[in-house]
Amino acid sequence: MAERTYEEILQNVERWASQEAKRFGNTIAILPTEASTLQTEDVMAKAKAVLFPINNNWEKATDLETLKSEIEGCTKCDLHLTRTKFVFGVGNPNAKVMVIGEAPGAEEDKRGEPFVGRGGQLLDKMLLAINFPREEVFIANILKSRPPGNRDPLASEVDACEPYLWKQIEIIKPKMILCMGRISGSNLLKTGSDSLASMRGNVYDYHGAKLMVTYHPAALLRNPNWKAGAWEDLQKFRKIYDEMTASDG
Ligand code: URA
Repeated sequence: MAERTYEEILQNVERWASQEAKRFGNTIAILPTEASTLQTEDVMAKAKAVLFPINNNWEKATDLETLKSEIEGCTKCDLHLTRTKFVFGVGNPNAKVMVIGEAPGAEEDKRGEPFVGRGGQLLDKMLLAINFPREEVFIANILKSRPPGNRDPLASEVDACEPYLWKQIEIIKPKMILCMGRISGSNLLKTGSDSLASMRGNVYDYHGAKLMVTYHPAALLRNPNWKAGAWEDLQKFRKIYDEMTASDG
């Protein structure tokens, strides 16, 4: 058999993956034997690019409905293989306040809506305590798909998904963002492994909005002693919001 170059083999894998994609409706790939002679990562990357082509039409979206329909089938990271539902986010498309968590949990993955479990109920109470009914704000997560077992988001997953959040912010144009928990805060602010204590109480600029970080409701359910601190954060958030919007009428 004539020897084939590495490039030729990759081209074959690509052609083969494309045929498989058609046969299996873009859902499954089994690599041919010759692929085993290559670097697995290269082969997987090539096969993935063919099986799950990346479509960047979402970048042109100017409203949330279009954005949702363009990204809800996203396959940019492997979480699409294990999610039940894509969790786009819910709420008022003209919200002045956005609430951002880290990623959907089990209940959110099942229902396709962020913060609907026990933590979600507490979040609703926290928002209501400062006069923001859930329907008035927009609630979203950094990751739109659930990490298996609720593990922390991987940096690669945040890199893949965060641009969708930026687009949501660009469309909604909130004045303020309430970021729930250390993981969300450090991922949005790129502060590495900073503690929640070092972020709480500060007001950051984030994509045209003022952003504050407070306790995640799930953490408050585990440690009710932290509720007093959360209440301080929420009151400060409301005060800044009132100052920012005082002249809006
Ligand atoms: N935790 C989050 O950060 N987001 C959710 O939607 C649910 C739990």
